[in-house]
Amino acid sequence: MLPVSLDTIRVFLHVLAATVWVGGQLTMTALLPVLRGAGGDTPKQAARAFNRVAWAAFAVLVVTGVWNIAEAGDTPSDYQATLHTKLAVVAISGVAAALHARASTRKGLAVTGAVSGVTALIALFMGVQLG
Ligand code: HEM
Repeated sequence: MLPVSLDTIRVFLHVLAATVWVGGQLTMTALLPVLRGAGGDTPKQAARAFNRVAWAAFAVLVVTGVWNIAEAGDTPSDYQATLHTKLAVVAISGVAAALHARASTRKGLAVTGAVSGVTALIALFMGVQLG
């Protein structure tokens, strides 16, 4: 069997948090018609419940991401360019998600939700490039 190291745990936690942040947003989008169909403030309540888990995952991403950087040591300039672009994209995903939670119009919800989801997917792709 391959050994389990601290590196394994670091990357596991980072990828686990990425699945929650990215996969959770995709799943919420897929469930939206059903939640709307349930009527009342069901979509709002589901979004609030997801928000709690999603922001915990985002915090884990930031902490383990900083840990990833510390472990990566000296890296070539193309790695750094991808990393810096990824960090900008992650920041946009976080800001868009925060605005999404505060949006009150259908259009505002759609735009901020789409921006957060697409940038989260781009961050996932760039993370795989870095890994
Ligand atoms: C939406 C947020 C994020 C997503 C979806 C994401 C996703 C990923 C994924 C899937 C990997 C590949 C792991 C592997 O297979 O080795 C990765 C690696 C990495 N991530 Fe993230 N990440 C996010 C946020 C961050 C943040 C905030 C930082 C830094 C503060 C960061 C820094 C890194 C670094 C340095 C690596 C390379 C790790 C290695 O060398 O193995 N990530 N990320």
